[in-house]
Amino acid sequence: MDYATSRLKTVKASASAAISVKAKAMAAAGQDVIDLGLGEPDFDTPAHIIEAAHQAALRGETRYPNTQGTAALRAAVVDKFRRDNGLTFAADQVIVSNGAKQVIFDAMMATLEPGSEVILCAPYFDSYRNIVSVIGGVPVTVTCRVEEGFLLQSADLESAITSKTRWVLLNSPSNPSGAVYRSQDFAALGEALRRHPHVLILSDEIYEGIVFDGAPFASFAAVCPDLTDRVLTVNGVSKAYAMTGWRIGYGAGPKGLIAAMTTVQSQISSGACSIAQAAALAALTGPQDCIETFRTAYQRRRDLVMGHIAQIPGLTLRNPGGAFYALIDCSALLGGDIPDDVAFTAWLLKAAGLATVPGSVYETPGYFRISTATDDATLTRAMGRLAKAVATLSKDIP
Ligand SMILES: Cc1ncc(COP(=O)(O)O)c(C=O)c1O
Repeated sequence: MDYATSRLKTVKASASAAISVKAKAMAAAGQDVIDLGLGEPDFDTPAHIIEAAHQAALRGETRYPNTQGTAALRAAVVDKFRRDNGLTFAADQVIVSNGAKQVIFDAMMATLEPGSEVILCAPYFDSYRNIVSVIGGVPVTVTCRVEEGFLLQSADLESAITSKTRWVLLNSPSNPSGAVYRSQDFAALGEALRRHPHVLILSDEIYEGIVFDGAPFASFAAVCPDLTDRVLTVNGVSKAYAMTGWRIGYGAGPKGLIAAMTTVQSQISSGACSIAQAAALAALTGPQDCIETFRTAYQRRRDLVMGHIAQIPGLTLRNPGGAFYALIDCSALLGGDIPDDVAFTAWLLKAAGLATVPGSVYETPGYFRISTATDDATLTRAMGRLAKAVATLSKDIP
């Protein structure tokens, strides 16, 4: 029997999760596999956050939570936006969900009519496309070129906008490219978006704490304050505090949008886990030093990977300015038995025991993505294997 609806048939399960499952199965079968597929911090959640969750459970915070998020956590989110981003929200402009992913899902579910268009900036986080599709929206891809730092250009944005455009999804620092928008980049996009008042803007800032080389982080709503009634700012604790398993994300935006998203959430999950919300509260209000500790480690690993890739003929990598990924151009190595990036990553897994994600997943064929959220020794070992495997392919490459 065919159980899936036609809408569901447009959706692919998370590619990086699938690759990770395959890598784990190979490892369980005794094969030596290094998993560079999944994008999650390799650090443990700081102890004071775990302790706060424990205490909350013992205090009896074990009942259905407020659907929109506990009052305490929403107040902490309001403070976080004021402290870190200079943004002012009231508590009823904030929603807490099961990860940033559900914030995005709630927003799309609340606002898309069948056929509504959503602009995605390739390379993009693959869940964007799948969330839009399953709801009956139409993903519209704008290609962001490597020569322009993988940043969305306002002329390209404007030529993709139609009367059906509902959203443009922005993500800085970006998964998978590591591109970081500066204030002036957002200002240019804001100028274009002022000409199209029917378009909403989702700014996914989940990698906020991971910006390299002393560059400042820019939040779209702070750069374009006159557009705040059209902006949903999305963030969460998964990446900043090594809390991917706790499943807490949050969004802030216009009150009416947040109310509609809360209605969606009330029927999907009745809100996020009360104990995980207590943990997120401790993360946002407690010591923030882990963010800098993690950032320093990711920058060191970015440098490590950049150094190795520069020495491998046939591969090129544009310096990722943030997040913990490297989107590597392997197009010079493709052809013959390895015609595309999907075949390349399959070959890499087989020939070198390296699990990576093909760029086509992010609508960027000819590339593959590795996660650098892996300890330095493992990354060094992985780079050695990559160099050795590629050397067997790239004899003709100068
Ligand atoms: C760009 C981007 N947004 C959102 C998410 C989802 O984050 P969360 O774990 O909070 O659902 C991810 C996770 O990989 C991501 O890369």
